[in-house]
Amino acid sequence: MSLTLQRIPAFSLSLFCRCSSKFQHRLCNRMMSKKMRVSDALACKETGSNVTIQGWVRSVRPQKDNLFLHLNDGSSLQPVQVVASSQLNTRDLTFGCAVDITGTLEKSPSKRQNVELQAQSIKVVGECNPLDFPFKIKERHPLEYIRQFPHLRCRTNAFSSMLRIRSEATAAIQSFFRDHGYVQIHTPVITSNDCEGAGELFQVEPTGDKKDSDDPHFFSVPAYLTVSGQLHLEVMAGAFSAVYTFGPTFRAENSQSRRHLAEFYMVEAEIAFTESLDDLMKVMEDLFKAATEHVLSNCTEDVELFHKYVAPGHREQVDLMLNRKFNVISYTEAIDILKSSSQNFTFSPEWGCDLQTEHEKFLVKHCGNTPVFIVNYPYELKPFYARDNQDQPRHTAAAVDLLVPGVGELCGGSLREERLQLLTQRLSQAGLEDTYTWYLQLREFGSVPHGGFGMGFERYLQCILGLNNIKDAIPFARFSHSCQL
Ligand code: 4AD
Ligand code: MG
Repeated sequence: MSLTLQRIPAFSLSLFCRCSSKFQHRLCNRMMSKKMRVSDALACKETGSNVTIQGWVRSVRPQKDNLFLHLNDGSSLQPVQVVASSQLNTRDLTFGCAVDITGTLEKSPSKRQNVELQAQSIKVVGECNPLDFPFKIKERHPLEYIRQFPHLRCRTNAFSSMLRIRSEATAAIQSFFRDHGYVQIHTPVITSNDCEGAGELFQVEPTGDKKDSDDPHFFSVPAYLTVSGQLHLEVMAGAFSAVYTFGPTFRAENSQSRRHLAEFYMVEAEIAFTESLDDLMKVMEDLFKAATEHVLSNCTEDVELFHKYVAPGHREQVDLMLNRKFNVISYTEAIDILKSSSQNFTFSPEWGCDLQTEHEKFLVKHCGNTPVFIVNYPYELKPFYARDNQDQPRHTAAAVDLLVPGVGELCGGSLREERLQLLTQRLSQAGLEDTYTWYLQLREFGSVPHGGFGMGFERYLQCILGLNNIKDAIPFARFSHSCQL
């Protein structure tokens, strides 16, 4: 990280000349000090340098002669230890307050850390009354508790670890696609299509009086927040061969489940000249494994917090997912497995019906608690874009879902119907031919076999961290009946 010397304005110099020598010394140190993040300080090999570290106090231990603080600035789970003369202690130096500390970085006599900051000056920038602050010193608050404070929960260890992991996983996903020659496309957030056809849409209209206009819609047509960038990616795959998008996605599902959000992030890829679901499944599996390996090696301490305190033993589950090849079974086989099981399901499994959460759970367990791809779903269950397998008597589409332990469906994808005649037929049966004229044109002009998939990013984080509730995998959770910030 770049280190900057602070500039000394002229008025400070005149003030400086009139100060006491002790104060001059402190002021001088501060002026000559380099700003440093906690993570850089912890990794620092050269001791003796004069630095300023800014952050929030995580613990205060006053002793007779010395004062010990733990300071965190969000750059790492580990705080830096600060040692100061007890003369620097003030009443406003409390758990949770924001401080600016200047001192020298020295080798620590303690085995618990390599370096410590020997403070020469401590400035409380923002006070924090520990009695009113919802988080208490040294307490490991449950995720359900900290979820009640969406504006403050990033100050806790668990949630800040999750957010660092999320940031690193985002980078890993971007690198994966870049390294494999994909072009990133920013697909629109506002769109007039309902890609999934499930009607779980949020409509977008301006607020205020619309009497001036005869047109009831701002965009002349009804417009919605996107439920998937897929159709726009299909446009782009027709020119760039391999494309992806990674952005916010919206579903008006009236669901309070631990796996659904109204606003979530989806990673979507679309690949031209693809004729087989095997090719798509390979990308999904490679993406999952590459991103997870990156996170495990770049966020070791943060991940450990989850695998130790939030979901004990989950690391073995993650290793199992990384080391084994993902299973593949057809939807028809899946139904046979469910039907022949002795388990009493609430929804009895029948060919032609959607797999329920209880079915997904059973299938993952059946496959040794490792991820499983379910391929070739009933044609009628899948949206208009899914490629017709033209099989009999059980009519299926070339669609695939990836089910993972603890979460259920992580990815959904398919080959797309690239044949103009079949697609026209399906759209006109649904009365959608006019709406999707542009989509049909993609099949008229240089159509190629292609396919793609979408992976729910929060569900991915749930899966690798062992998070029971999806609301703990996103910075600010929006779900039905809740949008606090
Ligand atoms: O299975 P879905 O609906 O697939 C599509 O939207 C395709 N058009 C994607 C594509 O082929 N490009 O959604 C994909 C994934 C799901 O498997 C799930 O992980 C996640 O998105 N997902 C949700 N995550 C959180 N909250 C919700 N309400 C979600 N709905 C779907
Ligand atoms: Mg799906």
